[in-house]
Amino acid sequence: MATTIQFASKIFLLLLVLYACNGNGRASREMMAEENGSVLKLPSMDHKEISNHHMMDHLDPSSLVFFTLNDLKLGNKIPVYFPMKNPAPLLSQNEANLIPFSYNNLDYLLNFFSFSPVSPQAKAMKNTLQQCVIKPIKGETKTCATSLESTHDFVHDTFGLQTKFRVLQTKHIQKPGVNLDNYTILSEPEEIRVTNMVACHTLPYPYRVFYCHSQKSENKLFKVSLGGDSGGRVEAMAICHMDTSEWSKDHASFRVLRTQPGASPVCHFFRADVLVYVPIV
Ligand SMILES: *[C@@H]1O[C@H](CO)[C@@H](O)[C@H](O)[C@H]1NC(C)=O
Repeated sequence: MATTIQFASKIFLLLLVLYACNGNGRASREMMAEENGSVLKLPSMDHKEISNHHMMDHLDPSSLVFFTLNDLKLGNKIPVYFPMKNPAPLLSQNEANLIPFSYNNLDYLLNFFSFSPVSPQAKAMKNTLQQCVIKPIKGETKTCATSLESTHDFVHDTFGLQTKFRVLQTKHIQKPGVNLDNYTILSEPEEIRVTNMVACHTLPYPYRVFYCHSQKSENKLFKVSLGGDSGGRVEAMAICHMDTSEWSKDHASFRVLRTQPGASPVCHFFRADVLVYVPIV
């Protein structure tokens, strides 16, 4: 009986996932392919072990999210890349648990989602599964979560079970038609003082996968009102990493800002699909 139910729910899930992937038409496939090249490079993604993998001979437009603490001033103009697409479908923990999430199962997963092994989608899935097994850098904890429940488990592990938390996100009040634009800081940036923080970034995958991480080193969190030259209005969340000494020298931000590990704070805006968890004190 239990196996029948299990089997039935698996078929249901398969249909659901296939609907999400194929039913939406080519959009979600194309989206994954696009994301593959434009995922924000996180500190542990650029760790020495994989630094070659991330060597870029030209600047990826998606790395145009970085700025310095000095740039964060009323009236300043900063080029920012905000991708304007919807994230992949979110599964519940029960649904997500029915699909293996591991690099060892890649062949099975490609078959499950009907992606050819040489497709851009296969490459994106492979990258995501690889990112998820890379060890965190010193002072960092991380996990990949395949549901909101799992991100909350990680937040509880980080903040303590008793600590209540809230989620902060970048909000697009007026969407521009472009991903990359020059944005003016419209009001005095508001610092949100927090004792701890977990940021969960969305990785390219057929369903929503969160790369959640937390760093012990000092960070400053800001809420910034931005107005784009093309008419976009954004209430953006931004973070300044005050200590970058443990980051790889190949980190994209150092190329954008022409600096090096530990030399100066590195700030970046969070895309709208990033969940920033902070404790309520
Ligand atoms: C932003 O402004 C700079 C300097 O005026 C300009 O060169 C650049 O093309 C602009 N970028 C966009 C995306 O409009």
